[in-house]
Amino acid sequence: MPAMSDLLPLFPTGQSPCALHGLYLALNLHRQAVKSDDVLIYANYIASVDGRISLPDTGSGEFMVPASIANPRDWRLYQELAAQADVMLTSARYFRQLAQGKAQDLLPVGTGKAYADLAEWRQQHGLKVQPDVVILSNSLNIPDQALAQLDGRRIIICSSEQADDKKINHFTSLGINVLICGRQAVEGKRLKTQLIQAGYRSAYMIAGPEVHRSLIQAQVVDRLFLTTRLNILAGNAFHSILNGDIDAPAELKLLSLYLDQQPSSAQLFAQYALRGTNK
Ligand SMILES: NC(=O)c1ccc[n+]([C@@H]2O[C@H](COP(=O)([O-])OP(=O)(O)OC[C@H]3O[C@@H](n4cnc5c(N)ncnc54)[C@H](OP(=O)(O)O)[C@@H]3O)[C@@H](O)[C@H]2O)c1
Repeated sequence: MPAMSDLLPLFPTGQSPCALHGLYLALNLHRQAVKSDDVLIYANYIASVDGRISLPDTGSGEFMVPASIANPRDWRLYQELAAQADVMLTSARYFRQLAQGKAQDLLPVGTGKAYADLAEWRQQHGLKVQPDVVILSNSLNIPDQALAQLDGRRIIICSSEQADDKKINHFTSLGINVLICGRQAVEGKRLKTQLIQAGYRSAYMIAGPEVHRSLIQAQVVDRLFLTTRLNILAGNAFHSILNGDIDAPAELKLLSLYLDQQPSSAQLFAQYALRGTNK
């Protein structure tokens, strides 16, 4: 059992050591979009010190979060962030992996005993049992059997004007809304407008570097949670938190930084605000 005070606060300075449990839950992210017509969009990644968030799996060759960085303590914080979400933003790639049984989880606020407090917290705060799910996809290549695993949850697919009408009709016939949010691909500003129109106040972005690029380029990400596992992985084929180009550097303001003192999972938990956002 980890000690109650196994996190060392590095920023802001002057705080006492504290516990991991509850660290991010205390942020009340679902209440940070103050204006009635706004949504807080927050992203979360775990990376090695050399910036790898995913590497090819030695067996399948498929990109996955390496076991050398994933760990239960970061996962607890991932879950605390999910607990505060009205909706989770994810990619079609995730659902293609889910259909093959290779996805990391089922996008839940954890259903096991370890996460029962989070389910209760959602209930106390008037949130649905599970967050809704938004899937970004240009190809609309999203296996039905993967979608079926989210039975009972509202699913929205966001795509572009290039989307195939037959595929749109197929998803519509399954009761899934397909929203057009861009010309060539989903554009961050149009996505944000759709999220607000759907009544969402907090959106948890858990997709990879391509979706992240679309949102950072459009300056619609409000917060970035970045766990840095204190190891170096190397490898030439990898994903980092963002691939491709953006017009200008996205400037960050450090909001908090903690050192995880557990020797088996030495890591830094950082929270940034994106400059230019008022949340
Ligand atoms: N370590 C971490 O914290 C972390 C977090 C997230 C992901 N990852 C890893 O990173 C790797 C890549 O993740 P990912 O594939 O989910 O991320 P991604 O590169 O963001 O998304 C890829 C897919 O999302 C759709 N997409 C992306 N941007 C779009 C846009 N603007 N408009 C419409 N569709 C868009 C496309 O789907 P279509 O092909 O259907 O058009 C694309 O193939 C995976 O190995 C994953 O496990 C790691």
